[in-house]
Amino acid sequence: MGISSGPPIIGIQNINKAFQVGKNQVDVLKGVDLNIMPGEFVILFGQSGCGKSTLLNTIIGLERPNSGDIIIRGRKLYDLGEDARAKVRQDRFGIVHQQANWIKSLNVVENVAYPLMISGYSRRAAIKRAERTLELLKLAEFSRYTPTELSGGQQQKVSICRAIINNPWIIVADEPTGNLDTVSADEVMGIFKTINEQARRTILMVSHNPEYEKYATKVIYMKDGIIEKIVNRKDVKVDEDQYPSDLLAMARGEVL
Ligand SMILES: Nc1ncnc2c1ncn2[C@@H]1O[C@H](COP(=O)(O)OP(=O)(O)O)[C@@H](O)[C@H]1O
Ligand SMILES: [Mg+2]
Repeated sequence: MGISSGPPIIGIQNINKAFQVGKNQVDVLKGVDLNIMPGEFVILFGQSGCGKSTLLNTIIGLERPNSGDIIIRGRKLYDLGEDARAKVRQDRFGIVHQQANWIKSLNVVENVAYPLMISGYSRRAAIKRAERTLELLKLAEFSRYTPTELSGGQQQKVSICRAIINNPWIIVADEPTGNLDTVSADEVMGIFKTINEQARRTILMVSHNPEYEKYATKVIYMKDGIIEKIVNRKDVKVDEDQYPSDLLAMARGEVL
C-alpha cells in the first residue's frame, strides 16, 4: 500500500519565530506551512539570512516557535519537554552540519559509535556497528584516524555515518556540501541519494547549489521567512512495509 497520500512524516504548521535582539523583535519565520511525506528528498533553497537554519532548528526541536506546530509522525514536538525533545532528536533524526563537530579525544570509529553509546549500546556493540557503517561508505581504512586528519570530503562522509548509525527516520542536513570541492560534494550528494532511495529515509537538506535540484523530490524556495514556492519534482510512492527497518540493510544490495 502506497502511503504517499497518508500522513506526513513532518508537519510544519503555521510556524512563526521571532528573535529578540536588544529592544527589537526580529521576525525570522513568518507563517511557514509545509508537509514532508515519508521517503521524500526535500531541498530547501533561499538567500543567506532568510531563515533556513532557523526552520531546521525548529524542526529538530532546538528552537521553540512563537506559534505554530511541528508534528513528527503525528506527535506535536513542542508538547514534549526539553529532555523528551532531545530524545526524539537523538533517536529519530540524523543531523549533518556544514562542518562536523568532532569529539577530539576520540578517533573516527569512536566518534561514529558515540551516539549509540549514549543511547545505551555497549561499547563493543557500538564500535562494531560503527565499523560496519564506515565499511559501507568505504571509510574503514580511516577508523583509527583522528577525524581532523581526514580531508573535508572524508570528514563529511564520516559525519553521515555518525548521523545514520542510530537508524533515524529523517536525515536533516544544513548545507552539508558547503565547504567541499565539487568532486567531494557530488560524492556526498550521491550518498544522500542512496540513503533516500535504498534505505528510503526522508531527507531534508539546505543547499546553495541549484545543480542539486535534480536530487530532490520536492524543492522549497524560501524568502524572508516565508515559503515562496514549492516544486514537486517526483511523486514518492512509499510502502513502509518495504522499508529496510535497519538502515544498514541497504548494504544487502551492495549499493554503497
Ligand atoms: N539566536 C538568534 N538570535 C537573533 N537572531 C537570530 C538568531 N538566529 C538567527 N537569527 C537571525 O535570523 C535570521 C535568519 O537566520 P538563519 O536561519 O540562520 O538564516 P539562513 O540559514 O537562511 O542563512 C538572520 O537574520 C539571523 O541573524
Ligand atoms: Mg543557515
